[in-house]
Amino acid sequence: MPNAQSATTVRDATEADLADIMDIYNDAVLNTTAIWNDNVVDLANRQDWFAARMARGFPILVAEVDGRLSGYASYGDWRAFEGFRHTVEHSVYVHKNARGHGLGGLLMQALIERAEAGPIHVMVACIEAKNEASIRLHEKLGFRTTGTFLEVGTKFGRWLDLTCMELRVGENG
Ligand SMILES: CC(C)(COP(=O)(O)OP(=O)(O)OC[C@H]1O[C@@H](n2cnc3c(N)ncnc32)[C@H](O)[C@@H]1OP(=O)(O)O)[C@@H](O)C(=O)NCCC(=O)NCCS
Repeated sequence: MPNAQSATTVRDATEADLADIMDIYNDAVLNTTAIWNDNVVDLANRQDWFAARMARGFPILVAEVDGRLSGYASYGDWRAFEGFRHTVEHSVYVHKNARGHGLGGLLMQALIERAEAGPIHVMVACIEAKNEASIRLHEKLGFRTTGTFLEVGTKFGRWLDLTCMELRVGENG
């Protein structure tokens, strides 16, 4: 867990990080509504994901605390049609033992900088409507809520609402 003396860095992911990324991802699959999948993934799945993101020139960033991989953030195409090519949808995950210490904010600031350099025009976040931590994080970063789709997903035996937020890149101060 990060503390006042912890050394925190954000850097580009390498293939050597994929086992740690997989563990964070699978914990979110099993224990949260951040990902609306019921099935965990294996290393080959994350290797394919990494290769696809690199081939498209999309960033995968990781946060390390005292040398331990504690979170990651990335973006990919929002929609697969050419007209949407300046818009991306991102994800950000912090290890369960490292949440609430600013890592999500650090990762997102770095990801927004990459989007600015991209150049990406709009970033989209689609968040389970009760995920207050993620919605608060995105509000702090300047994202606006565009709307909430009701009961468009299901997990853990209940319907899930999806809140969508957008950032016009470069307008976040
Ligand atoms: C959402 C998540 C990425 C936030 O990362 P984090 O490192 O915990 O967040 P930070 O410490 O950077 O906090 C950012 C803001 O969110 C707020 N926040 C953090 N946890 C919160 C919580 N449990 N409830 C309400 N707000 C919360 C913080 O208060 C902070 O705002 P503040 O500075 O005004 O207080 C992290 O909780 C996480 O990985 N959750 C599980 C996966 C997930 O939901 N990913 C997002 C999918 S869209």
